[in-house]
Amino acid sequence: MTQLVELLEDMRRRREEILAGGGTDKLEQRHAKGLMTARDRLDALFEQNTFQEIGAHVRHSARHFGMEKKVLPADGVVGGTGYVDGRPVAAFSQDFTVAGGSLGKMHAKKIVMVMQQAGKFGVPIVAFKDSAGARIQEGVDALSGYGDVFYQNVLFSGVVPQIAVVCGPCAGGAAYSPALMDFIVMTEKNAHMFITGPEVIKAVTGKAVTMDEVGGAHMHAAVSGNVHFLAADDAAAVDIVKQLLSYLPSNNSQDPPHRPVTELSIDEDEGIRDLVPDDPQSPMDVRGIIARIVDPGQFLEVHRSFAENLIVGFARIEGFVVGLIANQPAVRAGALDMDASDKGARFIRFCNAFNIPLVTLVDVPGFMPGIEQERGGIIRHGAKLLFAYASSTVPKVTVILRKAYGGSYLAMCSQELGADFVYAWPTAEIAVMGAGGAINILYTKELKEAPDRKAKAAELTAAYRAEFASPYISAANGYITDVIDPAVTRSTIALSLAKALSKRETRPPKKHGNIPL
Ligand code: HXC
Repeated sequence: MTQLVELLEDMRRRREEILAGGGTDKLEQRHAKGLMTARDRLDALFEQNTFQEIGAHVRHSARHFGMEKKVLPADGVVGGTGYVDGRPVAAFSQDFTVAGGSLGKMHAKKIVMVMQQAGKFGVPIVAFKDSAGARIQEGVDALSGYGDVFYQNVLFSGVVPQIAVVCGPCAGGAAYSPALMDFIVMTEKNAHMFITGPEVIKAVTGKAVTMDEVGGAHMHAAVSGNVHFLAADDAAAVDIVKQLLSYLPSNNSQDPPHRPVTELSIDEDEGIRDLVPDDPQSPMDVRGIIARIVDPGQFLEVHRSFAENLIVGFARIEGFVVGLIANQPAVRAGALDMDASDKGARFIRFCNAFNIPLVTLVDVPGFMPGIEQERGGIIRHGAKLLFAYASSTVPKVTVILRKAYGGSYLAMCSQELGADFVYAWPTAEIAVMGAGGAINILYTKELKEAPDRKAKAAELTAAYRAEFASPYISAANGYITDVIDPAVTRSTIALSLAKALSKRETRPPKKHGNIPL
């Protein structure tokens, strides 16, 4: 008995040392800066008393350069499983107070243990990244550790959702682990992510750049597109993770957490009609339409500040979880450019991997014209969108609100690309190109010779819209399911989803397709 008491005392002392991380001073310094510690972040994520730690006693090898006497509690990373809103989730959190949260072989081994448990149990992974990168003293062992983590990221890609929270430094090759995950949330304070930082850039190129320019959260959210969600601070980041998880299944063999209503509404929303401008050329803010189609408060926009000409996000419609993709005519006329294509394609592939039906709202004038787009590879990038839609086997519902021209009509999930339902508003225009361009090409001579060129152009435009671009022509050819009153858009989508949820589609066996990257 005395021996057990002593052993328990020893156990308690060891635990306290581990919980103290890099020391009380360092933990307090973080709080003073308004930052959470590694354990605070996990506490904020998990429901109380549900966290079970894995490998708290793991230690680095003493054989590394200058490390013989170093004590690194938990080897600088805290990991395990817990509950988030009633569902199990695996998470790890790098501890900057312990050797800068640097990653060595055992630190990586702990991350791998957490990820393997997530993979086996089929639960999402959340990773808090706050690390100075490869632990210098461990040399190639540290690099090997990164390799181990990357391999697990790829192994479980498409198996369980993976969410990275970049809430501190994330430099060099370390940035590739978040990049291999599904979503990156980044805090505006304290976080930087880059492959080469300002010092290296200055040394190699001679150009002076700031840390924010090269790796700040705003840059990544709006310019590079690496970051999907901006968070004001750690607490806001955890809140976003929880919101995101609320739309996702735990793994790829489950359905997302639908909350179907007992009886689908067939109410008409007459107010939506007022949002449709009379002039087909005048831009419409599709956010207003989205707000009327989704359940109140049930839209989580992904990549909000990046490629704003295409809106993507998770939503619920009459309780059904969907991935929503919508052209935004209020930004760059809603044209599809390289960034919008990348953004859409990646989102669609995530949804397909995790059984989330796709709802597409179309108002698109075409792919973005321009030398920069052509030279930048709009063909290759735009093809990603086509590939992503065509290879998706989840239920797909498309609504053509207004313009759907040329290749972009197909790229926004037409029937040919596998849509199960394609609805069109009476305002839809489906054609090879818009009326302006088309009549100039087809009627050059007539327009030139017309006594009143403007009147002739207006007459031809009206005829073009009625005779070539009307949704009834597409409907007559069986390319669309039906022409609907905008007022029934929400109920039509919901009813279509309800029927399509049991969709099964078998494709030719293959190792994997070859998406244009
Ligand atoms: C081991 C490290 C370390 C590292 C920092 N520390 N970086 N220990 N390996 N890479 C230790 C410090 O010695 C210090 O220990 C503690 O962490 C905190 O570091 P400070 O410099 O005091 O903190 P701060 O001033 O906030 O600066 C943070 C920092 C800076 C900007 C991250 O430490 C830094 O630039 N570190 C080097 C970053 C780096 O180059 N990493 C390698 C990237 S390449 P004490 O004991 O004093 O508390 C890479 C390759 C991966 O990661 C390849 C994968 C394929």
